[in-house]
Formats: sequence, structure tokens, C-alpha cells
Amino acid sequence: MTHRWLRIDGSSSTIILECVNKGVPLWRYWGPKLRADVKPPSLGQVTPPASFSLDARPQLNVFPTNGFGWFGAPALRAHRDGADSAQLFSTEDVRCDERSLSIILCDRVAALSVTLSFAFEGNALRATTALTNEGDRPLSIDWIAAATLPLPANTIHRQAFTGRHNGEFVLHNERMTQAGWHQENRRGLTGHSGPAAAFVETTTGTIYAAQLAWSGNAIQTIEWNDEGHFVWQFGEGFTPGEIMLSPGETHSTPDVIATYAFSMNSAAQAFHAAIRARSPWPDSRMRPRPVHINSWEAFYFDHDEARLMAFADRAASLGVERLVLDDGWFKGRHNDMSGLGDWTPDPDKYPNGLKPLADHVTALGMEFGLWVEPEMVNEDSDLFRAHPEWALQAADRSRPTARNQLVLNMARDDVRDALFKAIDDLLNAVPIRYLKWDHNRDLAPPGGRAQILGAYALIDRVRAAHPHIEIEICAGGGGRIDAGIAERCHRFWASDNLDANVRLPLQRNILRLIPPELMGAHVGTSPTHATSRMQSMAYRCAVALSGHFGIEMDPATLDDNDRAVLSDWIALYKDLRDRLHQGNVWQGTANDGIVWQAHGDAQRLLLLVYREAPETWRTPSALTLSMLDATKRYLIRHLKSTVSTTHSPAQADFWCDVQHKGQSLDGEWLMHIGLPLPSMNAENALVLDIAIDC
Ligand code: DGJ
Repeated sequence: MTHRWLRIDGSSSTIILECVNKGVPLWRYWGPKLRADVKPPSLGQVTPPASFSLDARPQLNVFPTNGFGWFGAPALRAHRDGADSAQLFSTEDVRCDERSLSIILCDRVAALSVTLSFAFEGNALRATTALTNEGDRPLSIDWIAAATLPLPANTIHRQAFTGRHNGEFVLHNERMTQAGWHQENRRGLTGHSGPAAAFVETTTGTIYAAQLAWSGNAIQTIEWNDEGHFVWQFGEGFTPGEIMLSPGETHSTPDVIATYAFSMNSAAQAFHAAIRARSPWPDSRMRPRPVHINSWEAFYFDHDEARLMAFADRAASLGVERLVLDDGWFKGRHNDMSGLGDWTPDPDKYPNGLKPLADHVTALGMEFGLWVEPEMVNEDSDLFRAHPEWALQAADRSRPTARNQLVLNMARDDVRDALFKAIDDLLNAVPIRYLKWDHNRDLAPPGGRAQILGAYALIDRVRAAHPHIEIEICAGGGGRIDAGIAERCHRFWASDNLDANVRLPLQRNILRLIPPELMGAHVGTSPTHATSRMQSMAYRCAVALSGHFGIEMDPATLDDNDRAVLSDWIALYKDLRDRLHQGNVWQGTANDGIVWQAHGDAQRLLLLVYREAPETWRTPSALTLSMLDATKRYLIRHLKSTVSTTHSPAQADFWCDVQHKGQSLDGEWLMHIGLPLPSMNAENALVLDIAIDC
């Protein structure tokens, strides 16, 4: 019997696989980083025989398949007209260095080969799988796991997301059960629940977290295996018969980004670092994220060039740096019944095209951005009248509309070419620096994987032809936020719900997966359009500060006081954005309803503290900051608060000092006892600077 160990290390975690003879490498370890000289016992040595089992009982490996004694979750369900559905792979080749590993498997009987790749980036493990049909008949794939990961038996809670339009990324915390868990998205795009992703907590508080970098149908399962662990899998969801692999063809899965971490915050930080490492910034460098204004809630479809120029003037005087012209600008687009597909300016609204407005915006020192929804078409459009066959259609079936629109078949070269030409023409004719790329419906009939690959290809082609353009991804708010499309975009629109109290948890949950500089966070109107609730301007601004700050309203509707407040917060955002959009993010709660977010490192933190509901304690809860350095003393300075001077509660002396000259406290005290907080009314926030006091 031959034995070989495969080991790769992340910054604070390790994975170890065991190769026995030519078998598929067995999962032996995924957890905290081990010393380099640790030698695990072989699985065979520590596994007793079990009654009513195969004599050579298969154990969890990196690509488990059914048919020869593994009865747990398979990584592959595939067949050739019902044949070759039981597979048994062996290892052909392995390549391994300190951080990355690739394993080539082969099943000569079923005529299949598989390449599994694992690579650490920081503390995030990227895993992906490619399957090649080595036979001479097509292979139908029903399921292929992008990764099969082990979870120990002491995992007790699982946090994952659900959501809908105006209510994205709702976090659910559920007990892990041996009944298992299956989550499947069949909407044809990522959806408002976010990507397939979860955070799994152990009894000791450590975290296993993973997300699938994919913008389409997806499946995530956790299955108990009575060998004493859970099996966690991620992959695309296919419709029956969707994936038919021709002889010699290869199917590659999306990546899974996975991390083992000592806390929820370090898991999120590993995700942020992995996504940041692949962010496609023009010139490979993120510019300070410009203050953004978007025309949607200010004008909806009611565009008028002169009014929009005046809007631009008002925005510029507030310090806005990018103006995005949302839906309503193109031919025949007077409501949501018509126009999608006809990407030329509406001649009544913009008689001389978009250039005069774009030039006006640019002359004011702002960038001009434009909304498009390339993958969609209205039946009432020139495009549809010319090419009804371009809409997704199942033969002899109706085409259900949603928001009165149909979906274009992105698998067709002629569709993508026409869309590329339309976008390219716009980008060549008008000084556009930014596209807001929307997608306002689920897919019915299904478009499947080809639809997503077609959309990716179109975005990539636009970016290749116009490398200085930035792209914001939107799908009725946050319906397409995932690490797959994050490799080809620069911002996500988080939600159409601008209610600060809805946004607070929603944004916090998005930040579990995606770094803050990619999360569009706007100050909306009061009352807010989505919920009719009213909130102060300062509170709305404080909530928007936690992402890429922007405005979703017409400043003309503001009184002088609100305009001054907004302009102050814009100035604050500009001062702080470098600190907000780099370094680590921590999130937490303090007692009695306080939530907080900190950006930076143990030397210097920017701390955002929010109170949504009224206090119930006489003495406000302290806020512990465990990321600080216990050996240092810190100076706490007040940068801004939303508390109005007229109705603010009386404060302890400590807080009066923080406000006027700063106060210092020991790191150890802040870590374990906490920062004493001021008394705050509901819907208020604080922005503090906490830095080593030298
Ligand atoms: C949905 C988006 O979420 C909104 O911000 C806006 O762009 C509309 N679509 C326009 O139709």
C-alpha cells in the first residue's frame, strides 16, 4: 500500500488530504493552521470496521461518486443514456505546492476525467472542478459539485440568506440537523437571497464559511454522514438535459470560495480579501469611490434635458462626483411597458442625443454614467418587432412577461453582437464613464447556464473594448450580487429599499460576503419610497456611510437645513473613504440594540455605531472591540454624530470629553469591558476615530 499526504496552507488554515494507492484523495483535515511537522495518522489506521459495510469501506474524498460503496452525497450525477452512471475514479496525477493543489482523476470504464483545483488566497480557499468526457458518446450531467467540503460533527449553527425585491439578504440562523439541508435557486440569476453561501459555526465558535462565485441557478447542500461528519457541497443547478457534454468536451464549474476562520468577522475578511484580489479596476487600481447621484427616484421615467441639467447643477454644488442617468432616457421609454431593446436616446426627451447632458455633467466636474438593461426587451420595441425570435422561448409555449418585459437569449451570437454594438455606439458617442447594468426579472422559461455565460461574455467584451468604464451590477436592487460577477464589475446596487432601518441589516448582511467599496449605499428620500417611513437626513447619511456613498433623490426637494446636513456628510465621506474602503471590516452588536461596524486595523479604527430602536437601559451598554492591541492605549475622538442638540439626552462626562477633546482608554479595557457609549435616541448614529495614543 502506498501513502502520500497532500497539504496546502492559507494564512491561518490548513487542508490535508490522504492519498492511498491510486484512490481519490481522502479529506483528512480542514481547520486551523497546523505546524509544518504535524503527521496525521492514516484514516485506515483510526477507522474501525463497521458491521453491514463493504469490507473496504469508502470514506469521504474530494470527489465522491456513488455506485461502489460511497452512499453519501455524490459530487457527480451523470450518464450516457442511462449507462456509465456508477463511477469509480482513481488518481492519475497530482501537482502540489505550498498554496495550491491540482488533482487529476480518471475513470477509464466510464471514460471520464476530472481536474480538481484548490488554491489558497490569503485565508480563502478557491476550489473548482472540471470534467471531461473522454468517451465517444455524449454525457448528460445532472449535477457536478464545484467542491465537496467536510464539516466536523461539532458544527451547530448555520447562517444563510433568503430575500426578495426590497428585502434582500435576510439572514437566518438555524440549528444544524442530521436531517440535512438543501438550498436551491431556480430563478435563473443570483436572486435577492444572494448567492449560494453559508456560515457554519462550531460549538467552540469557529466558523466554516463558503460562497459560490456564480450568477445563475445554484445548489448548496449539507448532508450528515454517519461516518461522523457533514458533507457540504456547492454547484450549479441544471434543468434536466441541460448539460450534454460532447466527446472530448470539458465542463468547468464556477469557483467556491471557502474559509475556516476564528470568527464571523475573520470569515468575512477572508471573503473581502479574495474578492478584492480579483476586482477588475481600470488600470488595476481602485480610485477613491466617487460620491454618486442616481436619477431613478428623483425622476423615474419623467426625463427632461433641462431639468436633468439643473439636477446636475444641484448635485455638483453638493459635492457629488458622478451622476448616473437611470431608466427612462431611451427611445419610447415613457413607462415600463415599452422601449427596452432600443438603446438610442429618446428624440423627444433628448433631441440632440445624450451628449449635451453628458457634456454638461462633465463640465461640472462630475462623471457621467448611464443605466442600461441589455439582457431585456419589451414587446413594444423596434428590436422585438425586428427580431421576435431573439427572446427566450420554449417551443410551443407562452412567454411569461415580468415588468412587461421578455428576456433576450444571451446564448445567441447575433443577440450578443447586436447588444455589444448598441452599447459600443453609446460609449463611443457620449462621454460615459460608468454603466449601471440592470436585470429586472427572473427567467421563465429558463435560460440556464448559457444565459449567464452569455451575459458574462457581453460584459467582458464591453470592458475589453472600453477598459476605463466602471460597471455597476443591479437586478431590481440586489438581485445579482455574487463573487462571480464581482470579477467583472465595480459596484453592486444593494436594494431599491432606501429605508435606513431596512438598509442597516441588509447592508450588514451583504458585507458578510462582499467588501464595502463594492456596495452601493444611497441616501434616499423621507418618507422613503419603499416603506413610507420617515427618517432624519443625518441618520440616512450615517447608514449610507457604510458602503459606497451615494444619493437617490433630487436635492431640489430638500430644505436648506437638510441640504446643509447632506453636504456635511458628503464632505465627511470624502475625508473617510480611503479608510472605509481598505483594511478590514468588523461588525458586531452591543447590548440593548446597538449595532456597529469598524474599518481599519488594530492601530486605527473608524467606528460606526447605530441605534435603531429606543434605549431600554438607564446606562448605555459598552461596546467591546476585541481586535485592538491589549498593550496599547487608544485615543477616542468624535468625528460626527446624528444626535441633534435640541433633543439629545444628557450625557456622562466621559462623552462630553470625547466630543470636545477626545478621551483615552487602555486597549485591554476596550477589548474586554468596552467603550462606554453615550445615551442615544432611536435612529441615531455616531462616527468615531479610535487610534493608538502616542
Ligand atoms: C431597478 C433598479 O433597482 C432601480 O434602481 C432602477 O434602476 C430601476 N430598475 C429602473 O427601471
